[in-house]
Amino acid sequence: MKVLVATEKPFSAQAVQGIKAKIEDAGLEFALLEKYTDKNELYNAMADAEGLIVRSDIIDSAAIAAAPKLKIIVRAGAGYDNIDLEAAKKRGIVVENTPGQNSLAVAELVIGMAILAARNNFNGTTGFEISGKRLGLQAFGQVSRNVARLAKGFGMTVSALDPFCSPEAIAEAGVENKQSLQDLYGNSDILSIHIPATPQTIGSIGYDLISLLPKGAVLINTARKEVIDEDGLEKVLQERPDLKYFADVKPKNAETLEEKFAGRVFFTPKKAGAQTKEANLKAGLAAADQTVDFLCRGVENFRVNR
Ligand code: 3PG
Repeated sequence: MKVLVATEKPFSAQAVQGIKAKIEDAGLEFALLEKYTDKNELYNAMADAEGLIVRSDIIDSAAIAAAPKLKIIVRAGAGYDNIDLEAAKKRGIVVENTPGQNSLAVAELVIGMAILAARNNFNGTTGFEISGKRLGLQAFGQVSRNVARLAKGFGMTVSALDPFCSPEAIAEAGVENKQSLQDLYGNSDILSIHIPATPQTIGSIGYDLISLLPKGAVLINTARKEVIDEDGLEKVLQERPDLKYFADVKPKNAETLEEKFAGRVFFTPKKAGAQTKEANLKAGLAAADQTVDFLCRGVENFRVNR
Protein backbone atom coordinates (compact mmCIF):
# COMPACT_ATOMS: atom_id res chain seq x y z
CA MET A 1 0.00 0.00 0.00
CA LYS A 2 1.40 3.34 -1.03
CA VAL A 3 1.31 6.48 1.14
CA LEU A 4 1.96 9.74 -0.68
CA VAL A 5 3.17 12.85 1.13
CA ALA A 6 2.15 15.71 -1.16
CA THR A 7 3.21 19.13 0.08
CA GLU A 8 3.41 22.16 -2.17
CA LYS A 9 5.06 23.84 0.86
CA PRO A 10 7.49 21.14 2.06
CA PHE A 11 8.03 19.89 5.59
CA SER A 12 11.55 20.13 7.02
CA ALA A 13 13.93 17.38 5.84
CA GLN A 14 13.95 15.91 9.35
CA ALA A 15 10.15 15.67 9.36
CA VAL A 16 10.15 13.97 5.94
CA GLN A 17 12.73 11.44 7.16
CA GLY A 18 10.65 10.72 10.26
CA ILE A 19 7.43 10.28 8.25
CA LYS A 20 9.21 7.98 5.77
CA ALA A 21 10.61 5.84 8.59
CA LYS A 22 7.20 5.42 10.22
CA ILE A 23 5.49 4.53 6.93
CA GLU A 24 8.21 2.04 5.91
CA ASP A 25 8.49 0.50 9.40
CA ALA A 26 4.79 -0.34 9.08
CA GLY A 27 5.50 -2.20 5.83
CA LEU A 28 3.94 0.49 3.63
CA GLU A 29 5.44 2.17 0.58
CA PHE A 30 6.47 5.84 0.93
CA ALA A 31 6.25 8.39 -1.90
CA LEU A 32 7.01 12.11 -1.83
CA LEU A 33 5.86 15.01 -4.00
CA GLU A 34 7.06 18.47 -2.95
CA LYS A 35 6.90 21.98 -4.43
CA TYR A 36 4.64 20.88 -7.28
CA THR A 37 3.46 23.68 -9.52
CA ASP A 38 0.73 21.97 -11.49
CA LYS A 39 -2.40 20.12 -10.35
CA ASN A 40 -1.65 17.32 -12.82
CA GLU A 41 1.62 16.55 -11.04
CA LEU A 42 -0.41 16.02 -7.90
CA TYR A 43 -3.09 13.98 -9.66
CA ASN A 44 -0.50 11.71 -11.28
CA ALA A 45 1.29 11.13 -7.99
CA MET A 46 -2.03 10.30 -6.29
CA ALA A 47 -3.10 7.79 -8.95
CA ASP A 48 -2.06 4.66 -7.03
CA ALA A 49 -1.93 6.04 -3.47
CA GLU A 50 -4.03 4.50 -0.71
CA GLY A 51 -2.92 6.99 1.91
CA LEU A 52 -2.33 10.72 1.42
CA ILE A 53 -0.67 13.21 3.77
CA VAL A 54 -1.02 16.91 2.87
CA ARG A 55 -0.75 20.38 4.36
CA SER A 56 -2.81 23.24 2.82
CA ASP A 57 -2.79 21.43 -0.53
CA ILE A 58 -6.18 21.61 -2.27
CA ILE A 59 -7.79 18.19 -2.33
CA ASP A 60 -11.05 18.90 -4.10
CA SER A 61 -13.42 16.50 -5.86
CA ALA A 62 -11.22 16.45 -8.99
CA ALA A 63 -8.18 15.46 -6.94
CA ILE A 64 -10.18 12.77 -5.15
CA ALA A 65 -11.41 11.44 -8.51
CA ALA A 66 -7.76 11.15 -9.59
CA ALA A 67 -7.04 8.71 -6.76
CA PRO A 68 -9.27 5.64 -7.21
CA LYS A 69 -7.46 3.58 -4.52
CA LEU A 70 -7.44 6.28 -1.85
CA LYS A 71 -8.60 5.22 1.64
CA ILE A 72 -7.37 8.02 3.92
CA ILE A 73 -6.33 11.66 3.68
CA VAL A 74 -4.54 13.15 6.69
CA ARG A 75 -4.20 16.91 6.80
CA ALA A 76 -0.99 17.47 8.79
CA GLY A 77 -2.32 20.53 10.58
CA ALA A 78 -5.48 21.91 12.11
CA GLY A 79 -7.67 23.42 9.38
CA TYR A 80 -9.16 21.04 6.81
CA ASP A 81 -11.08 23.53 4.67
CA ASN A 82 -8.72 22.60 1.80
CA ILE A 83 -10.27 19.13 1.58
CA ASP A 84 -13.66 18.31 0.06
CA LEU A 85 -15.03 16.30 2.97
CA GLU A 86 -18.25 15.34 1.23
CA ALA A 87 -16.52 14.10 -1.94
CA ALA A 88 -14.24 12.01 0.28
CA LYS A 89 -17.16 10.66 2.31
CA LYS A 90 -19.06 9.65 -0.82
CA ARG A 91 -16.10 7.48 -1.76
CA GLY A 92 -15.75 6.16 1.82
CA ILE A 93 -12.42 7.95 2.24
CA VAL A 94 -11.54 8.88 5.83
CA VAL A 95 -10.32 12.46 6.37
CA GLU A 96 -8.35 13.34 9.50
CA ASN A 97 -6.43 16.32 10.86
CA THR A 98 -3.71 16.49 13.51
CA PRO A 99 -5.16 18.99 16.01
CA GLY A 100 -2.79 20.88 18.28
CA GLN A 101 0.46 19.70 16.71
CA ASN A 102 1.40 23.04 15.16
CA SER A 103 -0.49 25.31 17.54
CA LEU A 104 2.52 26.59 19.48
CA ALA A 105 4.28 27.67 16.27
CA VAL A 106 1.22 29.67 15.17
CA ALA A 107 0.84 31.17 18.65
CA GLU A 108 4.46 32.35 18.64
CA LEU A 109 3.84 34.01 15.27
CA VAL A 110 0.85 35.88 16.75
CA ILE A 111 3.05 37.29 19.51
CA GLY A 112 5.74 38.13 16.94
CA MET A 113 3.22 39.98 14.78
CA ALA A 114 1.83 41.82 17.81
CA ILE A 115 5.32 43.10 18.65
CA LEU A 116 6.12 43.89 15.01
CA ALA A 117 2.95 46.01 14.80
CA ALA A 118 3.49 47.60 18.22
CA ARG A 119 7.02 48.66 17.19
CA ASN A 120 5.94 50.05 13.80
CA ASN A 121 7.73 47.32 11.84
CA PHE A 122 10.96 48.23 13.67
CA ASN A 123 11.23 51.43 11.61
CA GLY A 124 12.78 53.45 14.42
CA THR A 125 9.70 55.49 15.36
CA THR A 126 8.11 55.35 18.80
CA GLY A 127 5.95 52.28 19.27
CA PHE A 128 4.21 50.77 22.27
CA GLU A 129 4.74 47.86 24.67
CA ILE A 130 2.31 44.97 24.52
CA SER A 131 2.64 44.59 28.31
CA GLY A 132 -0.46 45.86 30.07
CA LYS A 133 -2.49 45.90 26.85
CA ARG A 134 -5.75 44.02 26.26
CA LEU A 135 -5.57 40.97 24.01
CA GLY A 136 -8.82 39.60 22.59
CA LEU A 137 -9.00 36.08 21.16
CA GLN A 138 -11.78 35.23 18.73
CA ALA A 139 -12.22 31.50 19.45
CA PHE A 140 -10.38 29.59 22.14
CA GLY A 141 -8.92 26.48 20.52
CA GLN A 142 -5.40 25.13 20.77
CA VAL A 143 -3.67 28.08 19.09
CA SER A 144 -5.59 30.61 21.23
CA ARG A 145 -4.75 28.77 24.42
CA ASN A 146 -1.05 28.98 23.61
CA VAL A 147 -1.37 32.65 22.62
CA ALA A 148 -3.12 33.34 25.94
CA ARG A 149 -0.37 31.60 27.91
CA LEU A 150 2.41 33.45 26.10
CA ALA A 151 0.59 36.81 26.25
CA LYS A 152 0.09 36.50 29.99
CA GLY A 153 3.85 36.05 30.28
CA PHE A 154 4.16 39.44 28.61
CA GLY A 155 1.73 40.93 31.16
CA MET A 156 -1.20 41.29 28.79
CA THR A 157 -4.82 41.06 29.96
CA VAL A 158 -6.49 38.34 27.92
CA SER A 159 -10.14 37.84 27.02
CA ALA A 160 -11.80 35.40 24.63
CA LEU A 161 -15.09 34.57 22.98
CA ASP A 162 -15.86 31.03 21.88
CA PRO A 163 -19.41 29.68 21.74
CA PHE A 164 -18.02 26.15 21.33
CA CYS A 165 -15.80 26.29 24.43
CA SER A 166 -17.07 25.98 28.00
CA PRO A 167 -16.83 29.16 30.11
CA GLU A 168 -15.06 27.03 32.73
CA ALA A 169 -12.25 26.12 30.30
CA ILE A 170 -11.77 29.80 29.46
CA ALA A 171 -11.81 30.78 33.14
CA GLU A 172 -9.37 27.98 34.06
CA ALA A 173 -6.86 29.49 31.62
CA GLY A 174 -7.11 32.80 33.52
CA VAL A 175 -8.89 34.41 30.58
CA GLU A 176 -11.99 36.62 30.73
CA ASN A 177 -14.98 35.06 28.95
CA LYS A 178 -16.59 37.70 26.71
CA GLN A 179 -20.29 37.42 25.91
CA SER A 180 -20.39 39.15 22.53
CA LEU A 181 -18.18 39.89 19.56
CA GLN A 182 -19.03 43.57 20.04
CA ASP A 183 -17.62 43.48 23.57
CA LEU A 184 -14.54 41.54 22.40
CA TYR A 185 -13.73 43.85 19.49
CA GLY A 186 -14.63 47.00 21.42
CA ASN A 187 -12.22 46.22 24.25
CA SER A 188 -9.14 44.68 22.62
CA ASP A 189 -5.97 46.63 21.83
CA ILE A 190 -4.79 43.56 19.96
CA LEU A 191 -7.41 41.25 18.50
CA SER A 192 -6.28 37.86 17.23
CA ILE A 193 -8.58 35.82 14.98
CA HIS A 194 -8.68 32.03 15.44
CA ILE A 195 -11.91 30.91 13.81
CA PRO A 196 -11.93 28.34 10.99
CA ALA A 197 -13.31 29.12 7.51
CA THR A 198 -16.78 27.59 7.40
CA PRO A 199 -19.97 28.62 5.57
CA GLN A 200 -20.97 30.39 8.82
CA THR A 201 -17.70 32.33 9.30
CA ILE A 202 -16.69 33.23 5.74
CA GLY A 203 -16.83 37.02 5.30
CA SER A 204 -18.08 37.40 8.88
CA ILE A 205 -15.45 39.92 10.04
CA GLY A 206 -16.15 43.16 8.24
CA TYR A 207 -16.70 46.88 8.57
CA ASP A 208 -19.11 46.85 11.54
CA LEU A 209 -16.96 44.63 13.72
CA ILE A 210 -13.54 46.03 12.81
CA SER A 211 -14.80 49.60 13.34
CA LEU A 212 -15.43 48.75 17.00
CA LEU A 213 -11.70 48.27 17.71
CA PRO A 214 -10.32 50.88 20.12
CA LYS A 215 -7.97 53.64 18.95
CA GLY A 216 -4.56 52.34 17.86
CA ALA A 217 -5.64 48.68 17.81
CA VAL A 218 -4.05 45.88 15.80
CA LEU A 219 -6.09 43.13 14.13
CA ILE A 220 -4.07 39.92 13.65
CA ASN A 221 -5.21 37.08 11.41
CA THR A 222 -3.25 33.83 11.42
CA ALA A 223 -6.40 31.79 10.75
CA ARG A 224 -7.95 32.00 7.26
CA LYS A 225 -8.23 34.91 4.81
CA GLU A 226 -11.80 33.91 3.91
CA VAL A 227 -13.22 34.97 7.29
CA ILE A 228 -12.51 38.62 6.45
CA ASP A 229 -14.85 40.75 4.36
CA GLU A 230 -12.03 42.43 2.45
CA ASP A 231 -14.05 45.41 1.20
CA GLY A 232 -15.18 46.12 4.74
CA LEU A 233 -11.60 45.88 6.00
CA GLU A 234 -10.37 48.28 3.32
CA LYS A 235 -13.11 50.77 4.18
CA VAL A 236 -12.25 50.75 7.90
CA LEU A 237 -8.51 51.12 7.23
CA GLN A 238 -9.36 54.11 5.01
CA GLU A 239 -11.49 55.75 7.69
CA ARG A 240 -9.31 54.82 10.69
CA PRO A 241 -5.63 55.70 10.14
CA ASP A 242 -4.93 54.48 13.69
CA LEU A 243 -5.72 50.81 12.93
CA LYS A 244 -3.41 48.06 11.65
CA TYR A 245 -4.07 44.69 10.01
CA PHE A 246 -1.31 42.05 10.19
CA ALA A 247 -2.00 38.67 8.62
CA ASP A 248 -0.34 35.34 7.88
CA VAL A 249 -3.07 34.67 5.35
CA LYS A 250 -2.63 37.14 2.53
CA PRO A 251 -5.92 38.72 1.42
CA LYS A 252 -6.91 38.83 -2.26
CA ASN A 253 -6.62 42.63 -2.16
CA ALA A 254 -3.17 42.54 -0.49
CA GLU A 255 -1.48 44.70 -3.13
CA THR A 256 -4.11 47.43 -2.87
CA LEU A 257 -3.92 47.42 0.90
CA GLU A 258 -0.10 47.52 0.88
CA GLU A 259 -0.16 50.44 -1.52
CA LYS A 260 -2.85 52.43 0.30
CA PHE A 261 -1.88 51.65 3.88
CA ALA A 262 1.90 51.15 3.82
CA GLY A 263 3.25 50.29 7.26
CA ARG A 264 -0.24 49.66 8.63
CA VAL A 265 -0.68 46.30 6.96
CA PHE A 266 1.70 43.36 6.93
CA PHE A 267 1.38 40.05 5.10
CA THR A 268 3.76 37.11 5.23
CA PRO A 269 4.77 36.15 1.66
CA LYS A 270 3.74 32.53 2.29
CA LYS A 271 1.71 31.23 5.23
CA ALA A 272 4.38 30.86 7.91
CA GLY A 273 2.49 30.10 11.12
CA ALA A 274 3.17 26.37 11.18
CA GLN A 275 6.50 26.63 9.41
CA THR A 276 8.92 25.73 12.21
CA LYS A 277 11.04 22.60 12.34
CA GLU A 278 9.34 21.60 15.60
CA ALA A 279 5.80 22.01 14.24
CA ASN A 280 6.71 20.21 10.99
CA LEU A 281 8.03 17.31 13.00
CA LYS A 282 5.08 17.10 15.39
CA ALA A 283 2.37 17.47 12.71
CA GLY A 284 4.23 15.28 10.18
CA LEU A 285 4.89 12.44 12.61
CA ALA A 286 1.32 12.58 13.95
CA ALA A 287 0.02 12.39 10.37
CA ALA A 288 2.26 9.38 9.68
CA ASP A 289 1.13 7.62 12.88
CA GLN A 290 -2.53 8.28 12.10
CA THR A 291 -2.15 7.04 8.52
CA VAL A 292 -0.48 3.83 9.69
CA ASP A 293 -3.05 3.37 12.47
CA PHE A 294 -5.85 3.54 9.93
CA LEU A 295 -4.33 1.56 7.07
CA CYS A 296 -2.94 -1.19 9.30
CA ARG A 297 -5.45 -1.29 12.17
CA GLY A 298 -8.59 0.58 11.03
CA VAL A 299 -8.21 3.20 13.80
CA GLU A 300 -9.89 6.49 12.86
CA ASN A 301 -9.86 8.51 16.09
CA PHE A 302 -9.17 11.83 14.38
CA ARG A 303 -11.74 11.47 11.62
CA VAL A 304 -13.46 14.75 10.69
CA ASN A 305 -15.88 13.49 7.98
CA ARG A 306 -18.02 10.91 9.78
C1 3PG B 1 -3.23 24.73 9.87
O1 3PG B 1 -4.43 24.77 9.57
O2 3PG B 1 -2.73 23.80 10.53
C2 3PG B 1 -2.33 25.89 9.50
O3 3PG B 1 -3.02 26.81 8.72
C3 3PG B 1 -1.02 25.47 8.87
O4 3PG B 1 -1.09 25.26 7.50
P1 3PG B 1 0.20 24.76 6.66
O5 3PG B 1 0.44 23.34 7.01
O6 3PG B 1 -0.19 24.96 5.23
O7 3PG B 1 1.36 25.63 7.04
